[in-house]
Amino acid sequence: MLVHIKKLIQQAKKEKYAIGAFDTFNLEITLGIIQGAKQAKRPIILQVTPTTLKYAGIESMSYLMKTVAQNQAKNIPIALHLDHGKTFSDIVECIKAGFSSVMIDASNLSFDKNIALTKKVVQYARQHNVWVQGELGRVVKGKQGYDKLIIEPEEFLTDPDQAQEFVKKTKIHTLAVAIGNIHGLYKMRHGVPRLFLSRLKEIQKRVNVPLVLHGASGISSAQIKKAISLGIRIINIDTEIRMAFKQSLIQSLKVNKKEYDPRKILFPTIKNVAKIVKKKILIFGFSKK
Ligand code: 13P
Ligand code: ZN
Repeated sequence: MLVHIKKLIQQAKKEKYAIGAFDTFNLEITLGIIQGAKQAKRPIILQVTPTTLKYAGIESMSYLMKTVAQNQAKNIPIALHLDHGKTFSDIVECIKAGFSSVMIDASNLSFDKNIALTKKVVQYARQHNVWVQGELGRVVKGKQGYDKLIIEPEEFLTDPDQAQEFVKKTKIHTLAVAIGNIHGLYKMRHGVPRLFLSRLKEIQKRVNVPLVLHGASGISSAQIKKAISLGIRIINIDTEIRMAFKQSLIQSLKVNKKEYDPRKILFPTIKNVAKIVKKKILIFGFSKK
């Protein structure tokens, strides 16, 4: 069932859990995400990036997301979201396509330019009853082949005072923070990915909008649970979905070398994506009550 993101956040705030926001790319991954949500019996955010919209065509992709959410998960609340929108026209297109939430990621710009673009998007989106997610600090991108990449994210962290000013000036509905989280899988100089939870605490003290954790693939469930207890209300997962899709596709092709029915080849990918999505949702549904 399609719902406005506002509804999901209200519930998550009340019960102190985080909603899983999962990136989709195609039919099978969309079906897998929806099945995972159905198995876990919890709401989700179904999201897509401008790169995927360009690849698949915005009409095809948004209709796919909408119709699958409406028809194949009648009892599960699902909100549609644009992940990492970069330009004003990305935003306009997705609002026209019926998304209830959009992200404008201007975090690579200067503080003032980030405020200016985010504010423009919020003014437009609010006229259409659409929520906006902004980003401050930078959730940078790791590289594939993570055991080779070493990143120390300190220099990219969100500044709590700036966060306060950013939210006040832009009037965003949700804020993506950089607290040691990085997109993709990666290795840190001092071991496994670690969130800077004291930084999150400082941000939460100054900001009254729900906080979003990007780059959550590979972060331990213990760290995730602490972040939820400190105000994270949306958690983005992309890489672990891609990996689940790829692993099951390779396996499927290996086991059924002679098969050339795309449905039979691809069916295991739906199940494998559902498995990871369900697992994540159950971790995020943790409540501190
Ligand atoms: P990962 O690829 O690290 O899961 O990050 C997901 C994300 O932040 C999508 O916006
Ligand atoms: Zn992200």
